[in-house]
Amino acid sequence: MTFFDTAYHQGPPPWDIGKPQPVFVDLEREGLIRGRVLDAGCGTGENALFAARAGHETWGVDFAEEAIRQAKRKAKEQGVKVHFEVADALELEDLERTFDTILDSGLFHSFDDEERQAFTRSLAAALRPGGLYLMLCFNEHATGPGGPRRVTQAEIRAVFREEEGWTVREIRPAFFATRFDPPWDRTPAWLAVIERQAATP
Ligand SMILES: C[S@@+](CC[C@H](N)C(=O)[O-])C[C@H]1O[C@@H](n2cnc3c(N)ncnc32)[C@H](O)[C@@H]1O
Repeated sequence: MTFFDTAYHQGPPPWDIGKPQPVFVDLEREGLIRGRVLDAGCGTGENALFAARAGHETWGVDFAEEAIRQAKRKAKEQGVKVHFEVADALELEDLERTFDTILDSGLFHSFDDEERQAFTRSLAAALRPGGLYLMLCFNEHATGPGGPRRVTQAEIRAVFREEEGWTVREIRPAFFATRFDPPWDRTPAWLAVIERQAATP
């Protein structure tokens, strides 16, 4: 069983806060979550359920079967329509559809360097030209013990390169809410707003 599967079986894991990440609630208010939405690495689905409640046709994928089982159960209990599916975020082309917005709450920061490269190719297959990838990750100011890889702004810009069809529109300081006691309930994070260029090379 993978680290994530085990975490969901023992759950709830630290990142599973039982509500959407506040950052994504703000992005919806700002109008940056648009059209058809995919929550990549959706876990038990709080951000996807939020997007669906806000009126978006929404899919959520995760490779942890237990997470998707719990997400489906929540959707049913809450009467919210989301298509949840067990899938590898590094192979989003297998979904055979494209989205206007892809949400990422804590997925990118779980990848190693090689997976980051594979992920950009996978994202490009699932995000329509002009679509937005909205990514929340722990940043280098998150000084507590353990947890995922810390990500710098420079690393984000090195992965999502103009010459490869991406425009990093904005990287803003944000917080990642977790179940831990303070100060871990406000873990320093970056929120990246990245556009897939309309005309990709
Ligand atoms: C930190 S958790 C965040 C979960 C969820 N987005 C949230 O905010 O509660 C990262 C998630 O990414 C999923 N994940 C990691 N690598 C993945 C991959 N290659 N394909 C699909 N899901 C993946 C894990 O199973 C886990 O649910």
